[in-house]
Amino acid sequence: MLKLNNISKRFGGLPALSEVTFYVTKGKITALIGPNGAGKSTLINCISGIIPADQGSILFEEKEISGLQAHEIARRGVARTFQNLRVLPRLSVLENVLCGLTVKSDHSFLKAMLRLPALRHQERFLRLKAMESLDLFGLTKKADWPMAALPYGDKKKVEMARAFVANPGIVLLDEPVAGLNSEETARIGVLVKQMRTAGHTMLLVEHDMELVMDISDHVVVLDSGRCIAQGTPEEIRHNPLVLEAYLGKIGAAA
Ligand SMILES: Nc1ncnc2c1ncn2[C@@H]1O[C@H](COP(=O)(O)OP(=O)(O)O)[C@@H](O)[C@H]1O
Ligand SMILES: [Mg+2]
Repeated sequence: MLKLNNISKRFGGLPALSEVTFYVTKGKITALIGPNGAGKSTLINCISGIIPADQGSILFEEKEISGLQAHEIARRGVARTFQNLRVLPRLSVLENVLCGLTVKSDHSFLKAMLRLPALRHQERFLRLKAMESLDLFGLTKKADWPMAALPYGDKKKVEMARAFVANPGIVLLDEPVAGLNSEETARIGVLVKQMRTAGHTMLLVEHDMELVMDISDHVVVLDSGRCIAQGTPEEIRHNPLVLEAYLGKIGAAA
């Protein structure tokens, strides 16, 4: 589904990613883990076109997407959430999810879509789709709430509902449970697994090792911008390089 080959990225001469190569398989959850500053968010930003990679190729459904603009990559079916929420606080929950449909609509601007009478039938259809996605994330009752009024955990879910609403080919999730308590984390874990059952492909950046081990099919480990290991959760759990680079640091911090 997604093939990264030799991706490198430098910031002001300092390498953030060095020759990262791995594949994401259709219908699976691939987890990307590693200590803070390992380059995980940078990689997600390169895939989604927010920043250009310096080197390497990114094939999505066998086509090169590296070098394309972010909106073009989104239009091809690469959706994402952000480590630090990016929602529109003054719009309603439903409107925030509708934004996720504009990428696939013929008209780029949500406002135009909501105003022009000729587009009303399309608006009804899009609202229906957005409500379906909100329903999956248990947010039907809060559809008309202003985004700003939602608790943090619900905002994370709205971002996910927005990422999945257009039925993308892949969803990149950057730390979907960061800042959530254990109950909310477990809930998101269940939702992510449900999305996989529904056939979605995901690349999950995550710090919560318990969650990663529980829900991932394949785990890729980054350390200082390099891919140091990959395998099943069980293989990664016992990989000495990983224990040293990642789990060791967490153990030391705990
Ligand atoms: N826009 C940027 N400008 C300069 N340096 C950056 C930028 N984004 C990330 N970095 C650096 O790249 C490295 C990797 O960061 P990041 O991808 O955010 O790591 P992670 O998500 O794994 O914690 C860090 O050293 C970080 O300081
Ligand atoms: Mg990050």
